[in-house]
Amino acid sequence: MANDLVIKGGLVVSAAGTRRADVGIKGEKINALGEDLEGARTIDATDMLVLPGALDVHTHFQLPFCGTVSADGFFSGSRAAALGGVTTFIDFAIQARPGSVMDAIEARRAEADPEVCVDYSLHAGITDWSADRIREIPAIIEAGIPTFKMFMIYKSQGWQSNDGDLFAALRETAKLGGMVGVHAENNDLIEMLQAEADAAGGTTCYTHAVTRPEVTETEAISRAIRLAEAAGGTLYIFHMSTGGAADIVKDARDRGVAVHAETGPHYLLLDDELFKRPDGHHFATCPPIRKPADQQKLWERLADGTVEVLATDTCTFTSQQKDMWKGDYKAIPFGMPGIEALLPLTHTYGVGNRRFDVSQMVALLSESPARLFGLDHRKGKVAEGYDADVVIFDPRLKHTLSAKTHASECDYDPFEGTTCTGMPITTLLRGKVIVQDRAFVGSKGDGLFVARKPPATKQ
Ligand code: URP
Ligand code: ZN
Repeated sequence: MANDLVIKGGLVVSAAGTRRADVGIKGEKINALGEDLEGARTIDATDMLVLPGALDVHTHFQLPFCGTVSADGFFSGSRAAALGGVTTFIDFAIQARPGSVMDAIEARRAEADPEVCVDYSLHAGITDWSADRIREIPAIIEAGIPTFKMFMIYKSQGWQSNDGDLFAALRETAKLGGMVGVHAENNDLIEMLQAEADAAGGTTCYTHAVTRPEVTETEAISRAIRLAEAAGGTLYIFHMSTGGAADIVKDARDRGVAVHAETGPHYLLLDDELFKRPDGHHFATCPPIRKPADQQKLWERLADGTVEVLATDTCTFTSQQKDMWKGDYKAIPFGMPGIEALLPLTHTYGVGNRRFDVSQMVALLSESPARLFGLDHRKGKVAEGYDADVVIFDPRLKHTLSAKTHASECDYDPFEGTTCTGMPITTLLRGKVIVQDRAFVGSKGDGLFVARKPPATKQ
């Protein structure tokens, strides 16, 4: 079968290793890998890495949150994704009471479908556990959404689930092969520490970190793991931030619990001293960025395979939106941009600092997220029959991250001034070039909602 396009002479990377090969593409699919392939068009990838498009399984585009709406919408967010080599993202459809989760999914799809320029899916956010939820879970999974999110915090937003709700959701979703992901922080403890801090007076942006010490995450993660174990469910920890939690996940995985964990570049590279800067509130996210010792431990647990996924939790707020805090650390719109820098930062600090190799980078950014989130029948690998989501990556090209040049709508960049080594040059989405020579050439609507399957493996 003739190729429409051949990517010639690059080093093709998979989690299993690297191989110099041409990549033949026919229509939307990878047609062949081999030597001296011919096709109607060619792209020269000499000296380049040929990577599967990254999957960012944690984004919040145009999320109504903290009294405003996150500033990167489905178009600007997915354009930033494409420029960063991310060809699939998973956002959230969060149930708005008294509506159903399915109502939220339909509303979110109506927002995203016409706007996205890379492929996407949604997690089903449950805020109101009841018999109605049990009834709608099969239809949600049938609609291609086998992963659910529950919040152990955000009581005041009406999003918090209690332990019984979480246990029941783990038990019920497991019957159909689903997975429950949690935002794991101890709401009661945080509220108590906030009340104490407020009573003592003199709070600053740094109080955001002080009132969310490590135990607020480790306790919640331990609890969620015990609940998953007892319920026979599969648990995913979104945005894990502490070294202590990473050790807890390791212990649980070592005894066979079906628990999976994600961390993000901001937890690996930024620390809570930043809250002391005049623009410290720009870095406020939940859980907060932590200490250098946490970063060290998270890197170790990435390298040893305990932490299986890197994702960004992109939830962009401009400086004008962040200014809504007006000195109250509890009123900061929580979140930061990040999707565009996921792959360059992982290459620079993970591969560049020899914490892991390019194959493990592909495992963390592509193969593991595709497997855990039920997309490994078409995404996550440069292999015959897979979607031709391919990134041609120059491992030597240096680029300094800046709000002046990033594609996000944000007027600051959390990694401003950081020089990355290694940048995506060309991004293909299902065979179509959407980034060429680092310029976006895609369009709204290039992306599709992709139906996911219940993940095949528990551990
Ligand atoms: O602060 C954060 N992480 N904002 C986005 C919502 C969430 O908790 O994931
Ligand atoms: Zn969260």
